Amino acid sequence: MKHGFWLIAMACTLALTGCKKDKKHHYGPHHHSGMTHDFSDTKKFAKMFDNPKRNAWQKPQEVVRLLELKPGMHVADIGAGTGYFLPHLIKGLSGKGMVYGLDVNKHMVKHMQDRIKKAGWKNVVARKIPGDTPDLKDGSIDRIIIVNTWHHIPKRVAYSKKLHAALRKNGAVYVIDFTKDSKHGPSKKHRLSPELVVKELKAAGLKTTIMKETLPNQYIVRGSKS
Ligand SMILES: C[S@@+](CC[C@H](N)C(=O)[O-])C[C@H]1O[C@@H](n2cnc3c(N)ncnc32)[C@H](O)[C@@H]1O
Repeated sequence: MKHGFWLIAMACTLALTGCKKDKKHHYGPHHHSGMTHDFSDTKKFAKMFDNPKRNAWQKPQEVVRLLELKPGMHVADIGAGTGYFLPHLIKGLSGKGMVYGLDVNKHMVKHMQDRIKKAGWKNVVARKIPGDTPDLKDGSIDRIIIVNTWHHIPKRVAYSKKLHAALRKNGAVYVIDFTKDSKHGPSKKHRLSPELVVKELKAAGLKTTIMKETLPNQYIVRGSKS
């Protein structure tokens, strides 16, 4: 995939008010492969992912509020990239608990490790994971966030079962991804509808909800373990 979709994404931040979402449509591939993209150029991606203008549409405080974090929880960010969400998750845990920044790309992981060291964050670990598993211990995690990454994951029902296993009782996974009508995001053929995400998480035994939020370009699907 050679589209620089975040370039389009950043262009959109200038015209945010025009980015309307439509959550009713079913869209996106029903095949089992994830979209592949080379995320090795961390400097380039850091400029996009960590552009302060992103906060206006990504609304990280609102996302963290919806996670209902409590001090002491263990939180995993799968496909964490350059670590955009890490400081927000750390703050949400009030410094108590653990945050795991997980990514399939070794360059992204190194970037996060350097960032963690530079910032002096104590309760965060960045780790490389294989593409087909979150590689988390069973029953070890309270919250999992997967931001703008679900469409990259192959065999998502099988993956969802591994997420289910990794969650503690009352734990939950939050899939946050671009709506069909967002001017941000990958090419439209690679976007997944929230209804499809619901179906995939449900098939793994998670109790699903499409959350109420005010993000202009993304939906949030929660899958909780009872
Ligand atoms: C569009 S970026 C999103 C980064 C970050 N979540 C954010 O919102 O800023 C997608 C990230 O997912 C990672 N990724 C792709 N496929 C993955 C997989 N199967 N498992 C874990 N990470 C994956 C990529 O390396 C990349 O860092």
